[in-house]
Amino acid sequence: MSAALSAATASLQVAPLSAHIGAEIHGVDLTQKLSAQQVAEIRAALLKWRVVFFREQFLTHEQHVAFSAQFGELTLGHPVFGHVDGYPQIYSISKFRKATRFEGATLLRPWTGWHTDVTAAVNPPYASILRGVTIPPFGGDTQWTNLVIAYDKLSEPLRAFVDGLRGVHRFTPPAGASGTEAFVQAVSQRTLVTEHPLVRVHPETGERALYVSPSFLKHIVGVTPRESQALLELLWEHVTRPEFTVRFKWEPGSIAFWDNRATAHLAPTDIFDLDFDRQLYRTTLVGDVPVGPDGRASISLEGSPVGAAAAIALN
Ligand code: SIN
Repeated sequence: MSAALSAATASLQVAPLSAHIGAEIHGVDLTQKLSAQQVAEIRAALLKWRVVFFREQFLTHEQHVAFSAQFGELTLGHPVFGHVDGYPQIYSISKFRKATRFEGATLLRPWTGWHTDVTAAVNPPYASILRGVTIPPFGGDTQWTNLVIAYDKLSEPLRAFVDGLRGVHRFTPPAGASGTEAFVQAVSQRTLVTEHPLVRVHPETGERALYVSPSFLKHIVGVTPRESQALLELLWEHVTRPEFTVRFKWEPGSIAFWDNRATAHLAPTDIFDLDFDRQLYRTTLVGDVPVGPDGRASISLEGSPVGAAAAIALN
């Protein structure tokens, strides 16, 4: 923990980046303990803009954890891929990610497509905080999309139809991934499967979000496989319409803080066509169990909820 955490008092400036999603926040030093007003202002900006960005915040791992802890309880770095040595709450996102939790396990090209973090769990993290350290001079941008505006922009009959549906989210190794036997074994022992509502009511704002996490949502419950596939393709194409998205150009010291209850995001794949390295670190905050418009909560079909790192005995 940083030694002198004194409350800062400067007010924040919030600069929107597009019509529906993304804002840069200026006028705050994230290495310092925030005032209650600053926490409230950042929270309000997060709820409104879904993902907020900070520039030139050169945080240590300790400061990253301290900043995150002002917004909720931290999870373990990653339920499957583990955490940075000595920092149970920090997940390393490097170009060639390693499954650090399992000795001898390596995962190459672990990138998934559009997704919301850990939706295969019954209580996916409510927010993620990603810190850029080694950033390519070009390439490597991340994109986010606003799932609330995506829901709002469906036609009224389709909104009414999807309101009553539920989908099964499953964690499996990403397509194109390769790994050691130890990793494959470790992953197979940690299967996560959850039935979530297809439309999630945001617990803080009451807004409805089209809760489709393309990489993890495998099928819609109660319809035929062909119907499920056709409907999911329609919804996935819809939620990634460019006007619902923002694209962020990283710099060393950049931080992205997003609301997983209202967004999906896309990690870059162009970095694999470039020789540059890329290293970021992520924390995630413990989330609640999603609830649909009919009041029905998600149901865990396999695996454990994502607990707070502090409450989990590390092995
Ligand atoms: C993530 O999916 O959380 C990582 C995004 C990125 O590497 O840009």
